[in-house]
Amino acid sequence: MEKIYDVIVVGELNVDLILNQIQGYPEIGKEIIADKMTLALGSSSAICASNLSSLGCKVAFIGKVGNDVFGNYTLGQLQEKGVDTSMVIIEDQEETGATIALNYNEDRAMVTHLGAMSNLSIDNIDFQNLRLARHLHFSSYFFQSGFKNKLHVLFMKAKEMGMTTSLDVQWDPFEAWDLDLDKILPHVDIFIPNEVELLKLTGSSNIDSAIDSIKNRGRHTVIKCGRKGSILFYADKRVSCKPFLNKNVVDAIGAGDSFNAGYISKFIKGKSPEECQRFGNLIGAISTTKPGGTEALKNMDEAMKLAKNKFNYIDDETTG
Ligand SMILES: Nc1ncnc2c1ncn2[C@@H]1O[C@H](COP(=O)(O)OP(=O)(O)OP(=O)(O)O)[C@@H](O)[C@H]1O
Ligand SMILES: [Mg+2]
Repeated sequence: MEKIYDVIVVGELNVDLILNQIQGYPEIGKEIIADKMTLALGSSSAICASNLSSLGCKVAFIGKVGNDVFGNYTLGQLQEKGVDTSMVIIEDQEETGATIALNYNEDRAMVTHLGAMSNLSIDNIDFQNLRLARHLHFSSYFFQSGFKNKLHVLFMKAKEMGMTTSLDVQWDPFEAWDLDLDKILPHVDIFIPNEVELLKLTGSSNIDSAIDSIKNRGRHTVIKCGRKGSILFYADKRVSCKPFLNKNVVDAIGAGDSFNAGYISKFIKGKSPEECQRFGNLIGAISTTKPGGTEALKNMDEAMKLAKNKFNYIDDETTG
């Protein structure tokens, strides 16, 4: 079958309302002022999809939104970046989810209303559609109870169809961290948690013992470590990659999802794991230069200009 898409992203959809330059911390019964506010495309999966598309990949999305203002905005933002949203389910009876992010420099407190995203289930996936893409990316397992204990089925199907796969579990808002890594990771080519998520998932106190505790890790395990960069494990190798440090971070919202997009965009072109990792670090760093997760990645040309001017990065492909 002809491959129409490079990547199909399955996952959650919501908007981010980001409050910046907040004068103090919120307290029950009081009101404080945030000097800046941005409405942006939210959700790990959508930010990754949007940025993959900006980096030149052909991307389709499978998810759920409500028939409402936030749903229209979300779909509009994805479409503007060239993501095919024809497989997104619009649910009349549900609301599109939203995250209110209170941003304080490189960290933030977030409150999310899950809405329609929590009702996407494995039964909504037409497995025939997976055949249309070369790679499957899934994000935010714990926000989507419809995949609970079933996510490995989706990944097994994708592998049966000859696809490559990637998984970013993201934070568990219920803090139970009940995902059986030994069951899912054999079907995952790129496992991309952040440092804290990996430690929580494995109940370990450091990255190396966490890695040792996973019996079958799949091909690449990439751990995102914020302003420390990233650590990649593949074959018998452990590769640390320093960040393209941004000392003037606007916010780090979506830096991890942008890292994913950078890594996957190189991986599907058959680049070496180290090249994928370095490009992931770069796209993560670029994302921190503007508010939200997609603002800094409008298209490949602009991203590469920013990469050159701000981070002194020259991409072999774009220079020929
Ligand atoms: N201050 C920074 N300067 C440069 N690069 C950064 C900075 N912060 C993050 N990055 C890059 O972005 C990558 C991903 O960031 P981070 O570790 O915060 O991911 P995450 O916790 O998964 O984020 P998300 O909230 O998007 O899920 C890092 O591995 C690093 O390469
Ligand atoms: Mg993340």
